Amino acid sequence: MAMDLTSNNGETGKLAVTDKRIADYAMVLDLLGSLTELTSEKVVIESIIGLFRSLCAPSVVIYIPVIDDLPVEAIVFPVTLDAKPLVKDIIGNFHDDYSMKESGSGFRLRIKYGEKLLCFIEVEGIAFPEYNYHYLNLSLHIVNVLALSIHNARTYESFRREINERKQLEIELKEKTIQMEELNRSLEQKVRKEIDARRHKDQLLIQQSKMAAMGEMIGAIAHQWKQPLNSLSLLILDVKDAYEFGELDAGYLYTFVERSMKEISFMAKTVDDFRNFFKPSREKETFDLIEITSEVFSMLSSQFNTNDITYRITCRVHNRTFFSYNDVIPCEATQITTYKNQLAHVILNIINNAKDAIIDRRQKGLLGALEKGVIWVDCDKKDNVLRLEIGDNGGGVADGVKDRIFESYFTTKTEDKGTGIGLYMSKIIVEDKLGGKIHLRNVDNGSVFTLELSV
Ligand SMILES: Nc1ncnc2c1ncn2[C@@H]1O[C@H](COP(=O)(O)OP(=O)(O)OP(=O)(O)O)[C@@H](O)[C@H]1O
Ligand SMILES: [Mg+2]
Repeated sequence: MAMDLTSNNGETGKLAVTDKRIADYAMVLDLLGSLTELTSEKVVIESIIGLFRSLCAPSVVIYIPVIDDLPVEAIVFPVTLDAKPLVKDIIGNFHDDYSMKESGSGFRLRIKYGEKLLCFIEVEGIAFPEYNYHYLNLSLHIVNVLALSIHNARTYESFRREINERKQLEIELKEKTIQMEELNRSLEQKVRKEIDARRHKDQLLIQQSKMAAMGEMIGAIAHQWKQPLNSLSLLILDVKDAYEFGELDAGYLYTFVERSMKEISFMAKTVDDFRNFFKPSREKETFDLIEITSEVFSMLSSQFNTNDITYRITCRVHNRTFFSYNDVIPCEATQITTYKNQLAHVILNIINNAKDAIIDRRQKGLLGALEKGVIWVDCDKKDNVLRLEIGDNGGGVADGVKDRIFESYFTTKTEDKGTGIGLYMSKIIVEDKLGGKIHLRNVDNGSVFTLELSV
């Protein structure tokens, strides 16, 4: 790319010119030596501008970097110069590798590395325009070294950027990992806390439901005992009267003992029934679903009598209906193997609610004067699933309340009548312990609870 300086001025052999050339080459070589070792383009640019300033003392140097084929912001000397028109002219009109300025006191260079354009350089207003051609020639000799220096610096910088980006990524990754670990830890803590809270709540619920069950048991026993206690007191008064009237003979006494013992053994049986019933089964047992339902009715029978409530149990498999627990015929079709007392407790909860609903409806005057409270149970079996429906004419569950009845502590009753645990516990027992389903639907004048249990 270098040109022959002698062809331009035609004067050769002048010592002064030769000396200047040698001096210039020596200075340029000196500056070039360190240029290729620079690793920052900014420093390379400053050095190149410095080189041209030292070499030809120009009034203006413009350096326009080209990155990915696009010119970017120019670096100019002096910094106060408004180089915009010149930059525009260079980018728009300069398409060769070099050119002399028309002013005769400067030149332009286009620096490429292979085919890749790296920058434009313009040098203007050199102190000795007569050496313009010489400076251009010299510049063309060193243009490849300049290109190499710029290319090197850019490569270094891109490596540095990559390394920095990678480091940054590593730092971010580390921070993210720490954040994730912290999140995990706090999540674990939250979950543990939540589990503890639930366990505590469940324990409390179990405790309360035991208390409620005990209360129910005592209440039910008291009800069941009312009748025999009454009979016993009449018998005792009778004995007293018989003695006073001289009628107390051996026959009378035997009859008295026999009738008293009958009442007492009924009372003892009631206590046993309830005690067995409220003891949760540890093992699964095989039993008849209709029979266990009738046992629940038997335990509540005196409360039903007092409150004018009748009941009936229908076996859909045989289409038989029983109107008293005493009449129930055990049947194999409705047998199931599961935790007996837990299931009995669920049935008791549902029947107790039905009884409460009927009493409440009657108290509100919504049950006809001669209308009886009715609780009915339907037992059916299809595809190895036993369905037990328990319905009542207690008015049903209000629409706004329907979605909440299985929640813990949800009750519409006064504090002395309900805690809101019955159905919550029933749902847990049915779904978790017995692997079945429980749901509710309203019918004409009451509600129907359905239990579905696989056999
Ligand atoms: N057969 C029913 N008819 C009308 N409402 C019912 C019936 N069964 C349940 N409910 C409604 O569902 C609510 C929740 O019943 P649940 O058995 O869980 O609690 P409770 O009976 O109020 O109190 P607990 O059973 O703990 O003594 C009741 O308060 C009642 O409003
Ligand atoms: Mg209840």
